[in-house]
Amino acid sequence: MSNRGKVIKLNANENFYGCAPEVLNSINHKITNVNLYPQHSGRLEEILAEKFSVSPQNIVTGGGSVRVIDGIVQTFVEPDEEIIIFDRSFVAYQQVAKSHRRKVHLAKQNNFVCDVNNIFPLISNKTKVIFIANPNNPTGTIISDSELELLLCEISPEILVVIDEAYFEYVTDTTFPDSLSLQRKYPNVVIVRTFSKIYGLAGLRIGYAVLEESLSEKMKQNRIPFFFNLISEQAAIIALKYENFIQECKVRNYTERNYLYSSLKDSGFNVIESQANFLYLSFDDEQEKDLIFEKLLDREILICNLKIFGQDKSLRITIGNREANNKIIECLEAHNS
Ligand SMILES: Cc1ncc(COP(=O)(O)O)c(C=O)c1O
Repeated sequence: MSNRGKVIKLNANENFYGCAPEVLNSINHKITNVNLYPQHSGRLEEILAEKFSVSPQNIVTGGGSVRVIDGIVQTFVEPDEEIIIFDRSFVAYQQVAKSHRRKVHLAKQNNFVCDVNNIFPLISNKTKVIFIANPNNPTGTIISDSELELLLCEISPEILVVIDEAYFEYVTDTTFPDSLSLQRKYPNVVIVRTFSKIYGLAGLRIGYAVLEESLSEKMKQNRIPFFFNLISEQAAIIALKYENFIQECKVRNYTERNYLYSSLKDSGFNVIESQANFLYLSFDDEQEKDLIFEKLLDREILICNLKIFGQDKSLRITIGNREANNKIIECLEAHNS
C-alpha cells in the first residue's frame, strides 16, 4: 500500500476545489460557540424558497440528503409498501430501505443507462416510492426531460417519485429535466438536493427536499430536533451567496470531464459518458480492474473501487484538476500499452 499521506482523494465525488473561501471565513467566527445548541433560524429554507420560487413550507432540510432520504422512507413507506430503484444506483437507497425493513425492487439498466421503461413492470399497488438519481451515481448518466415525463404521466399520483439531484449543478446536457416545473405539474415529485457536492460542504452534512406542502408537513412532524449543527446552516446560507464559485467549479469540471473522458476512451477503456463530477469505467475482467485501482493508489490517487457496493467489475473516478487527470491518464495509458 502506498503512502496515504499525500493521496489525491477521488473516491467520493466531493468538490475537488473545496468550497467558496467566504464560507470558511464566515464559519470561523462560529467556532467559539460550540458549547451552545444550534438555533435553527429557518433562514436557509427562506433563501432556498426564494431561489426556487416556492414557499418555505415546500422545503425540508436535514443533515445531508441521506438523512432527507431516510425521512422520506420513514414518513411515507408503510411496512407493507414497496420501493423501486435502479440497480447500479446510489447505494444509500438500499441501505435506508433495509434499515426500515422495506422491500425494494431493482429496475435494470440498459447499457449503463437508467431506462424508465424498465420501471413499469415492477409497479404494483404496493409501490410507494421510486428513487431516481439524476444524474445517476455511479454511472453519471441522466434521464431526460421527456423520459421522466413519460414515467410521471403513466404512474399513479399516489406514488412518490423522488428525483435525487445531488449532481444536477454539473449537468450541461440541455435535455436534462427542469424538475421544479415538473413538480408544479406532478405534485408527487419530490426533489432532493445537497450542499455536499458542488457547494463543497460534504463534511458539514446539509441536504434538503423540495416537495408539496402537505408532504413536507408530514416529514417535518417526523423529524428529530437538532438536524443541523451549529455551523452547517450558516455555511449553506453563505455558500448560496457565492454562485460565481459554483459556476467556476461547473466550468472546470466540464473541461476536465471532457478531457479525461476522451483520453480514457482513446486509450481503449470502456468509459461511460457522464453529466456529473465523476466517470464510470467498466471492465470485462475483475482482476484487471483491481490492478488499475492498485496502480493508481501506488501513484497516490485514490479512486472508488465499486466492489464495495457490489459492482465487481467497475471503477468510479471523481473528476479532479488537470494535474490529477494527467496522472491518471499516464498511469492508465501505460497499463494499456
Ligand atoms: C446520488 C446521491 N445522492 C445523495 C448523496 C449523498 O449526499 P449527502 O452528502 O447530502 O448525504 C450522494 C453522495 O454520494 C449521491 O451520490
